[in-house]
Amino acid sequence: MSFFQWLGQVGVTLHPGGWGTTEKLLALLNLKPNELAIDLGCGSGRTLAYASEKFGVKVVGVDLVPSLASRALKRLKEKGLIGFAIAADIMVLPFQSETFHVAWAESVFVFLPKPDAFSEVARILKPKGRFGMIELTWRNEPRPEYCEQTRQFLGVQRYEVLTVQEWVAMLESSGLGVEVAEKMQSHAPHSSFSKWLSDWWDLMRLGFGLAKQVPISKWGEGARKIANLFRYTVPAIFVTVKKN
Ligand SMILES: C[S@@+](CC[C@H](N)C(=O)[O-])C[C@H]1O[C@@H](n2cnc3c(N)ncnc32)[C@H](O)[C@@H]1O
Repeated sequence: MSFFQWLGQVGVTLHPGGWGTTEKLLALLNLKPNELAIDLGCGSGRTLAYASEKFGVKVVGVDLVPSLASRALKRLKEKGLIGFAIAADIMVLPFQSETFHVAWAESVFVFLPKPDAFSEVARILKPKGRFGMIELTWRNEPRPEYCEQTRQFLGVQRYEVLTVQEWVAMLESSGLGVEVAEKMQSHAPHSSFSKWLSDWWDLMRLGFGLAKQVPISKWGEGARKIANLFRYTVPAIFVTVKKN
């Protein structure tokens, strides 16, 4: 079972930097009521619901894993929010060109072929549309062997951590002008106690889910891989505007 299918089974998704980084990203995107917004790789839909509730945007979520898209849709419905979520591949989005005012992605583009994935984002954005993302970058020097080990461990086709400069170059070459490229100091930027608690609650649920899936003999290896995530990488926030 791949990492994404496993996330779908556990029903919880998370991203580097936790909830504090999500709030910062959405604040930087300057969301306005009734704008049409898309969360690319929306997972279980926590950010999707928050964006709709807090900023009044009309939201669309897409995720490759049908059970995650269903969870996101259920979350919107239960809260009576305007929007929907569907199972779709970011590489071939089922939307016309120039549809969305704003798009974002949290911990998704490390898994995707670049720059093609960014070109698809640029295609569905309206002229001057905004795209923001939270992605992994190297804490110090690049560790290519970490990417390959993690790719194999997660059972995914691609896992590429880039330097901030490499991310910026990819975005720029896809027609997305970079306005903010901020490397965070750590995986747990300062946030209130309740947000910190909610991140830890989700992490615990993921941890228990993982422990149930992985044979005991692999627990040590899994723990080392997760420790390396914190040791070698930090999250970064990028905010871009479509060039024309
Ligand atoms: C680490 S999770 C992050 C989920 C969510 N953004 C969050 O922060 O909670 C990565 C997500 O990207 C989704 N994903 C990966 N490749 C995708 C693709 N090609 N198209 C759509 N979603 C994809 C996975 O199914 C998974 O839900």
